[in-house]
Amino acid sequence: MTSNFEKIEEIARRRGFFWIGSEVYGGLSGFYDYAHLGSLLKSRWESEWRKFFLGLDDNFFEIQPAEIMHERVWQASGHVESFVDPVVKCRKCGNVERADKLLEEQLKESFEGISMEELAKVIKKHNMKCPKCKGQLEEVGVLNLMFPITIGNDVRAYLRGETAQAAYLNFRREFETLRKRLPLGLAIIGKAFRNEISPRQLITRMREFTQAELQIFFDPEKMEEHRKFGEVKDYKILVMPVKNRENNQIDEVSCEEMTKHLPRFYVYHMAKVQQFFLDVLGIPRHLFRFKELSDEEKAFYNKYHWDIEVKLESIGGFLEIGGVHYRTDHDLGAHQKISKQDMSVFADGRKFVPHVLELSFGVDRNIYAQLELCYKEDRERSFFNFPRRLAPFDCGLFPLVNKDGIDGKAEELKAFMKDCGFSVFYDDSGSIGRRYRRMDEIGVPASITVDHRTLEDRTVTIRDRDSMKQIRIPVADMAETLRKFISGTPIESLGTPVK
Ligand code: GAP
Repeated sequence: MTSNFEKIEEIARRRGFFWIGSEVYGGLSGFYDYAHLGSLLKSRWESEWRKFFLGLDDNFFEIQPAEIMHERVWQASGHVESFVDPVVKCRKCGNVERADKLLEEQLKESFEGISMEELAKVIKKHNMKCPKCKGQLEEVGVLNLMFPITIGNDVRAYLRGETAQAAYLNFRREFETLRKRLPLGLAIIGKAFRNEISPRQLITRMREFTQAELQIFFDPEKMEEHRKFGEVKDYKILVMPVKNRENNQIDEVSCEEMTKHLPRFYVYHMAKVQQFFLDVLGIPRHLFRFKELSDEEKAFYNKYHWDIEVKLESIGGFLEIGGVHYRTDHDLGAHQKISKQDMSVFADGRKFVPHVLELSFGVDRNIYAQLELCYKEDRERSFFNFPRRLAPFDCGLFPLVNKDGIDGKAEELKAFMKDCGFSVFYDDSGSIGRRYRRMDEIGVPASITVDHRTLEDRTVTIRDRDSMKQIRIPVADMAETLRKFISGTPIESLGTPVK
């Protein structure tokens, strides 16, 4: 039986979402190329992210820093020393595997974050062998994930292992130019590079991937407040604290209740993250949760660390697609110490180093989750029911036939819709039924057809991808109708049903 991963991989390749990088040379493990549809979907995801998270505060901005950074950045941040994964090497064939993932795959339970000694014990207890050649495994060791590079002949640097550090280095200047106000948010959407030992599961574990991260610099004395907390106090978030690990139970807890365990500033942002996933990305409520990490599991820079997770069939459980991280002054403090540059600010009559709340998202994992969750099959067809705003195109537009002036009219309406700012997939070949199917297959939410009646009474039909219902509307209303449809209005209420 094909696994979900294989199925998504096959569909992604066949329809043009993504495929392995350097494919003509046999592919390069851990690197993927986004094809035309994948690119469109990803840029839609990113623009929804921008709109939502930069919209949280007038003092939040996006920056686009360099991806190659000074080696001392990563020494200061702790990545050179601590950004490591436990590995085991086969004595016979030399194959290297990530120790915790090897156990996870073979024993079907999570071993993330457990100590090296414990990993070694479990490997010994189960007499684990190399998955490739069944050879004996060496002792558990560690491998650093950073990609070192040499610039020119001798300048050492690293490809950034997370976008976050670039925001920390830019903080001082941005604070000065942005009129010295806190909280200040610096967002980066861009590449991160990690020398993953065993990249796997398509675009969910790669060596080059995209992160969307927002670093919020704030006064630590104000962590118990957020000016908009009142708006979310009764909003319920879905959480799995460490104490629920045994029974895997997800609690629905109001934000007010959550402040008994976490600061208000942190909880407010958890609520916003959940709203983004549920309301903007359309992730079903029962498939979403925040998972608290234990002290052993937390990233070395975090004081509070809750992963953002989505349940996927292919994983047989939850996949981490992001995190809400309270990084304290770990990073600014470290850069201050190593660079000898003052990272403190003067605000409210005090001088202090701001603390950081990080909202971190893996864009590729999100794209994978959307593909898996939105893929549907029924007797007649297969389709992606992407949220309308996220779909690779806003609409398909077709002439019913390529004659009688219908094709010319369709070309004219296509140009008009593009001028109105819509992305339009124009298709004039094959039967109309097949053209609708093609739109369904790539998840385009609406299909507009220009037919003989268009020439007579200046109307067109619009078909809804999900219900396959069609309505007829005046050409003059086309742009407004599509706008309303994309914003979520049901098709039935937008025009006259087509029988
Ligand atoms: N700045 C914090 C940070 O980098 P992280 O948990 O290491 O935190 C953030 O990474 C997100 O990036 C993860 O939640 C995940 O979605 C994504 N991510 C991490 N490693 C990845 C990889 N090898 N391939 C694809 N996505 C990855």
